Amino acid sequence: MSLRRLLLPCASVLLAASAFAATPASDAEIETAVEKLLSKMTLAEKLGQMSQRHYALKPQTEITISEEAVRQSQVGSFLNPDSAETVNQLQRIAVEESRLKIPLIFGLDVIHGYRTLFPIPLGQSCSWNPELIAAAARVAAIEASSAGIRWTFAPMLDVTHDPRWGRVAETLGEDPFLTSQLGAAMVRGFQGQNLADPQSIAACAKHYVGYGAAEGGRDYNTTLIPEAELRNIYLPSFKAAKDAGIQTFMSAFNDLNGVPTSANPFTLRQILRKEWAFDGFVVSDWNSVKELIPHGFAADERDAARLGIIGGVDMEMVSTNFREHGEALLHDGAISQAMIDDAVRRILRVKFRLGLFSNPYTDTKSPSVLLTEENLRIARELTTQSMVLLKNEPRVLPLSPEGKTIAVLGPLADSATDMRGCWSCAAKIEECRTVYSVFKDYVSPTTRVLYAPGLATAGSKDTKGIAAAVKAARKADVVVLCIGEGHELSGEARCRAFLDLPGAQQELVDAVAATGKPLVLVIFGGRPLTFSRAADSAQAILYAWHPGTMAGPAICDLLFGRTNPSGKLTTTFPRTVGQIPIYYNHKNTGRPTSFEEEKLGLPIGTPQNTIGYYSRYLDVHSTPAFPFGFGLSYTTFAYTDLKLSQPDANGVLTATVAITNTGAREGTEVVQLYTRQFVGSLTRPIKELKGFQRVALKVGEKRTVTFAVTPQSLGYFVDGGKFIVEPGRYQLWIGGDSASGLSTPFVLKP
Ligand code: BGC
Repeated sequence: MSLRRLLLPCASVLLAASAFAATPASDAEIETAVEKLLSKMTLAEKLGQMSQRHYALKPQTEITISEEAVRQSQVGSFLNPDSAETVNQLQRIAVEESRLKIPLIFGLDVIHGYRTLFPIPLGQSCSWNPELIAAAARVAAIEASSAGIRWTFAPMLDVTHDPRWGRVAETLGEDPFLTSQLGAAMVRGFQGQNLADPQSIAACAKHYVGYGAAEGGRDYNTTLIPEAELRNIYLPSFKAAKDAGIQTFMSAFNDLNGVPTSANPFTLRQILRKEWAFDGFVVSDWNSVKELIPHGFAADERDAARLGIIGGVDMEMVSTNFREHGEALLHDGAISQAMIDDAVRRILRVKFRLGLFSNPYTDTKSPSVLLTEENLRIARELTTQSMVLLKNEPRVLPLSPEGKTIAVLGPLADSATDMRGCWSCAAKIEECRTVYSVFKDYVSPTTRVLYAPGLATAGSKDTKGIAAAVKAARKADVVVLCIGEGHELSGEARCRAFLDLPGAQQELVDAVAATGKPLVLVIFGGRPLTFSRAADSAQAILYAWHPGTMAGPAICDLLFGRTNPSGKLTTTFPRTVGQIPIYYNHKNTGRPTSFEEEKLGLPIGTPQNTIGYYSRYLDVHSTPAFPFGFGLSYTTFAYTDLKLSQPDANGVLTATVAITNTGAREGTEVVQLYTRQFVGSLTRPIKELKGFQRVALKVGEKRTVTFAVTPQSLGYFVDGGKFIVEPGRYQLWIGGDSASGLSTPFVLKP
């Protein structure tokens, strides 16, 4: 850290800062400082700490109200401040003009980058690269903290099986184990080695819990999750974040088994506090305390405050029920003093850990840390690793940069705005590089690059531009067609009942494909889309998600083979919405599906295929369009020599497999290990991911990859929160996706 970063912004600030105590260094010192402060606080000041306000830039009256609230100790935190100057101004009032001089904490949704935008989290997860994801989160923390943000509402740790849900874009895929690993990596990146470092920001595990199970994939909808399922599928990523030292949790919007998660003592008190011993604080989601009323759980705002506090929410985001009704509730004995004190203690503890008491201000004088060369380098690397090559037959890719005519087509070929993804923070549209804007940098001077969007926007139904795209395609030797979802179709409250290509894009694909030119589709999206017809007419498909600032360079690196694709899907891609929910780690049923279907060998959708009473649809195959874990490379990998050891003294099995690069290019394979327990006290998934490794191999190189399989990793929760590891028959697979691989049975002895 440079010395200049330690300098404070102005003289008055310097004077004020000198009055602050040094940050307590040890946990014990922090606890003592918290108790000392708590003992001096009035009830109103405590309720103020439990309130988080939205910072409204306009009108001026709003700003004045905010400042006065800080002066009167009626607020503990703001979200969405607009600049470091605003942060310093409000902080100055808090630490100079309020009675107890308690600093504020400023939060923002730094979800996939601040000014340097990384791919949406779902895209990042396809890198299966925790270290790189941690590095990206570190960049985001450094950039955001330079604007006074010391708290991000990330990582989003929800697991979902439903791509209709717009917030699938924010998830790290459908698998609890992978989400746990990658979520914990994000926590490490945001929070850094030392929370008190001004460049570290507190992370927030959200949305606790079960929010991704929204019925029908409709945002905010009801969730019904049996306890064992909750503990096996939805809670592990949150527990991993807690174990990684996360400082805050966000209670969610959803009703879980009849009890909204922002007033749920079972999840917030029993599991989070008692079982996991979490000592940070819980913030509600936006207005989710007040929303207990429309849920039909609270009678009015007073009741909402009561239920939120009893439930275990420590800080109320935006709605003001705690502040307005806390005193009366306490007076009437509806809540206890201990509940209030516990909430405030947690909030103060995190503020102390962040060093806000001794270093409350944001340095505005240091050189910019935004969009640095290193930040962009990390973004480019993560962005290339996030993209998944779904098809390449016959090997159209990589493109040759020499002497050809290439048509770059489609509404998303040059749409910077759609590169951003669902949380664009401080990013500027013009800073997002599109495919077309960098394409010329990749080809020789003799190569002609033609451009035609075909449709004005991704959602446009006006087909008059298609003729120009077809004309360009006819002149070209190869076509790169950039299609998919615009950025506004995914994220919060952006659910879709149909997942087909929006607008007239299918017509565009059909028309371009009819020219017979080799067709490469680059598909953007905040979710798995359904695009079977387009896929059939293309020779190659690169799934690019919403890639962020380095979209164009990353895509061109891959299209031209400067980098070999290595991304693998972290969600199952359905053939059609009717298959949803479709996910790889499902249960077998008593009449398993695809196996019988394959055995019958009957075509789908024909009358003959109505025989057989199996768990399947008559009109679509049971298998997905692309399975979890799938992704191609420009090289090929062979798996051989799978071996599984006898258990060691601790019961740990060692699995090894040899992997060889059998193609003509250097490449990286994501090697995946899955297991299945055949018989359990509760029925078990047909496969579960238990390990993965990214393995880089030169041409012809062979490497042995080793995994340890602990008995613990084979266990699961049954109702009542009991974790069991059961002896019996298991199967283990190691391979390049969830639908293939070498496998061996094994028996777990008692
Ligand atoms: C979202 C959260 C977000 C919060 C603050 C809510 O609407 O559900 O994910 O952190 O707003 O912006």
